[in-house]
Amino acid sequence: MSGLAVKVRQAKPDDAEGIARVYIDSWHDTYAAILPMRLLCAMTPRGQAARWRSAVRVRGEAVFVAEDENDGIVGMASCGQARDATLGFDGEVYTLYVDPACYGAGIGRALLRNAFAWMSERGYGSCVIWAHKKNNARFFYEKVGGRLIAERSGRMMGDPICEAAFGWRKLALAETSRA
Ligand SMILES: CC(C)(COP(=O)(O)OP(=O)(O)OC[C@H]1O[C@@H](n2cnc3c(N)ncnc32)[C@H](O)[C@@H]1OP(=O)(O)O)[C@@H](O)C(=O)NCCC(=O)NCCS
Repeated sequence: MSGLAVKVRQAKPDDAEGIARVYIDSWHDTYAAILPMRLLCAMTPRGQAARWRSAVRVRGEAVFVAEDENDGIVGMASCGQARDATLGFDGEVYTLYVDPACYGAGIGRALLRNAFAWMSERGYGSCVIWAHKKNNARFFYEKVGGRLIAERSGRMMGDPICEAAFGWRKLALAETSRA
């Protein structure tokens, strides 16, 4: 994978299998030490492909893919209206997953930048992202300008989970050493 050969674009229904592969691989890599095995094993490529095939058709939301000219889809993100308006942020990035073989190559930032641009073009002014509290993605979010704004407890398939929300008051990423 060469960082220079990766392009971010809006997803099409035919990307569903590639999105599902990246989503599941990244999910397993991220949550193996955090979530119970039965949650990790519950996802199937077929089920996720069906989920993302219909998600790319939802009006008012966007799914993005990062595509490498040799390796195909190596990252994905989705965004739209904030699900919890009480936090005071109007836009939300619902998902952001990079192929574990490609972490640290600037793909997460490029996907986020595209999601912010898409939201900005549609009149959104701010953004929130929810992450599992133990997920070290929080360091990435803080690096690109997100601030911890809320925490909540919930359940995932019956198991308790704690999540943290990161917010951007303006739709702009903080500059980092490589941005
Ligand atoms: C979190 C994630 C999206 C970041 O994407 P990425 O492509 O690896 O990150 P980038 O290369 O764009 O990094 C941008 C900056 O953040 C930094 N960064 C990235 N991950 C980091 C981490 N875990 N801790 C500290 N800094 C981090 C990079 O060093 C870079 O800084 P620099 O420009 O100064 O070098 C990706 O690692 C991922 O998919 N993780 C697993 C899935 C996940 O947790 N998704 C979020 C669910 S809420």
